[in-house]
Amino acid sequence: MDVFHKAALLTARIKVLRESGKTVGFVPTMGALHEGHLSLVRTCKQQNDFAVASIFVNPTQFNDANDLRRYPRMPEKDREMLESAGCDLLFMPEEKEVYPEPDTRRFDFGGLDSHMEGKHRPGHFNGVAQVVTRLFDIVCPHKAYFGLKDFQQLAIIKKITADLHYPVEIVSCPIVRESDGLAMSSRNRLLSEEERKQALILSESLFLAKKMKDRHTPQEIRKFVSDRLKAVAGVELEYFEIISGTSLLPVHTWGDKEEIIGCIAARVGKIRLIDNINFSL
Ligand code: PAJ
Repeated sequence: MDVFHKAALLTARIKVLRESGKTVGFVPTMGALHEGHLSLVRTCKQQNDFAVASIFVNPTQFNDANDLRRYPRMPEKDREMLESAGCDLLFMPEEKEVYPEPDTRRFDFGGLDSHMEGKHRPGHFNGVAQVVTRLFDIVCPHKAYFGLKDFQQLAIIKKITADLHYPVEIVSCPIVRESDGLAMSSRNRLLSEEERKQALILSESLFLAKKMKDRHTPQEIRKFVSDRLKAVAGVELEYFEIISGTSLLPVHTWGDKEEIIGCIAARVGKIRLIDNINFSL
């Protein structure tokens, strides 16, 4: 696996590959990798001749300085994991390679950011859009791979890719979970042993909510989940929303025309975790 630090060198390398007829897939990450990330890399390698991954902890998407400071960084281990998952090239830029000038662009997400993460993390998705478009400009992939774990992020990335006419196919990949159900996340490694047990309340509540779907309204399930989380000391629910998978707005009836997703965010101790479940599958 090659490791590139300079944007211009990477762009030149990809140009040669594309001109020789190779397809290029891309997996952007912030590192501290786990099986969730590696599943994206494996799918990318299966579907393309050449798999590129990036590791860049993007400062513009952090609205909480402590979260940015605490974000786990383990480049050596990440490198080994990517290599064993079949990644061909790792891009690990410094900040000035991604943002030679401060990025002042403001994106319009057409309301997709009005709830959930967009509401609780002001500016977060603007930062995500800045970095993803910059990385697309540098890497020029045919396809890019994102996890359904970050459902709202995926919807927003699909929208900006289409709105800005990027010739990149966005591929959605399923959530990878620990054997007990906890959605894998780089932040899980920041949890103490006790918090790790408490964190299970997120996925367990989502699984229960889904089981309740045939006998209860979305409103009843919202109340059930929020009461359940309130009962656990040390866990603070930020939101639980049952939304349309298209508009990302809360739904009041189950309907049958569109996908319906349950999205949850909570702090376990100081660590903020998110998860979601598809009620329609
Ligand atoms: P990061 O949190 O490192 O995640 C990188 C990719 O891995 C994202 O597409 C995310 O949805 C996916 N992912 C994380 N956990 C997963 C899991 N348990 N199962 C399946 N996929 C999972 O998301 C980001 O980084 C950043 O916002 C980024 C898009 C790289 C822009 O900076």
